[in-house]
Amino acid sequence: MPESQTPVAVPLARKPLGMLKSLAAARNNVLSIIPYIATQQPVVSGTTGVRWHMLMDPDAIRRVLLEELENYPKSDVTKNLLRPAIGESLFIAEGAHWRWQRRAAAPVFSHRNVSALAPVMSAAAETSLARIEAADKRASDIYAEMVRATFDITASVTLSGSALFSSDEVHRAIDAYIAANSRRSAGAGDVPDLLDLLLEGEDPETGRSMSTAELRDNLLTFIVAGHETTALTLAWAFYLCAFDQDVQDKARAEAQSALQGRTATAADLPNLPYCRMIIDEALRLYPPAALVSRTAQAPDTLAGREVKKGDTVMIPIYALHRNALLWDDPDAFRPERFAEKPQRYAYLPFGDGPRICIGASFALQEAVIILATLLAKRRFSPVQGKTPDPVMILTLRPEGGVWLTSEAV
Ligand code: HEM
Repeated sequence: MPESQTPVAVPLARKPLGMLKSLAAARNNVLSIIPYIATQQPVVSGTTGVRWHMLMDPDAIRRVLLEELENYPKSDVTKNLLRPAIGESLFIAEGAHWRWQRRAAAPVFSHRNVSALAPVMSAAAETSLARIEAADKRASDIYAEMVRATFDITASVTLSGSALFSSDEVHRAIDAYIAANSRRSAGAGDVPDLLDLLLEGEDPETGRSMSTAELRDNLLTFIVAGHETTALTLAWAFYLCAFDQDVQDKARAEAQSALQGRTATAADLPNLPYCRMIIDEALRLYPPAALVSRTAQAPDTLAGREVKKGDTVMIPIYALHRNALLWDDPDAFRPERFAEKPQRYAYLPFGDGPRICIGASFALQEAVIILATLLAKRRFSPVQGKTPDPVMILTLRPEGGVWLTSEAV
């Protein structure tokens, strides 16, 4: 362990904030509305305009995400925030409309398909390494670098490299792309991209397949949900490796022995367990989706609390992952803790239950390939006075960037 204590954390509120203060605080950092006691207790409730409950109790969370799924749809706040960006896609649909899309999209992210996309990830890792080598010993923002790397991957795997991405244009571009390539009938290339795979997808129960608008919204969702979250995971993982050089050395030794000078591929993943543990621990300390929320449709009891219809039920994943009842030394960076499987419903970087992240294995594969490839060749060190600040707006970002220097090893 480095002498200096624990890695950066969000200062959680020690006393209740009033409604106006909460709103003001939430605008700057959503996580600042989480009270400190959420890291010490299984449940915290309150009323700030609406009645709300924060759950850190694994059994209660299991009830919300699995057993009583229908009673806890995603909250309106979540849907209203995301709908303009991603339409009525898988991410925000509910009930039957969600279920058939999920069934149709599930095969896209099968182990076989995700492994087949690994060469794109290896190529992006190589390009990223070249850029970092070119920066030589100058400090660079590894968060910005990871956004580029994961963006390259997303661009290649969503539409085989037609790099047209920028918000509104994406909408039109994807429509045009689907129309122009009339791929509904065309055969796929060597390695099918996500659009090819979605086109093949149909609901195994009803045989229904996606319309052009549905395809577009789901591709957009993959772009929005997949690229920044994975970049954040990597940025925080590099921050942590620079923070604790012993961990970094151990990961480097593993990566060098597994890769023997090569870029990491899907076949190397079983030989990179420690790199994977670093990613798992980065996702524990800085979960990119650090808070999810639901609206209760009927009265219920959760962790001994009375829940009324209309109450907001939040799972503050950030506080769950640092809850003292569930984790030893919760604020410490200790990748080894993932040598054992964590308790179910205590570790939720990808959510859980039927609505668990559909891209989790894609993201983990991408993150380990990039981390191992870079650590095998470079040693990363922090830059004095440039500590990132964890701030959540939609995702948990390192405000100010993750500034590191690196040198060849
Ligand atoms: C480290 C990276 C990622 C993290 C931390 C992450 C996190 C999450 C979480 C927490 C949820 C559940 C939200 C809730 O229950 O309210 C979710 C759902 C989802 N994610 Fe991810 N995600 C990541 C990467 C990806 C990737 C790479 C893709 C696609 C290529 C993706 C696509 C989706 C979709 C479509 C859903 C909605 C699934 C459903 O409701 O059936 N995510 N993600």
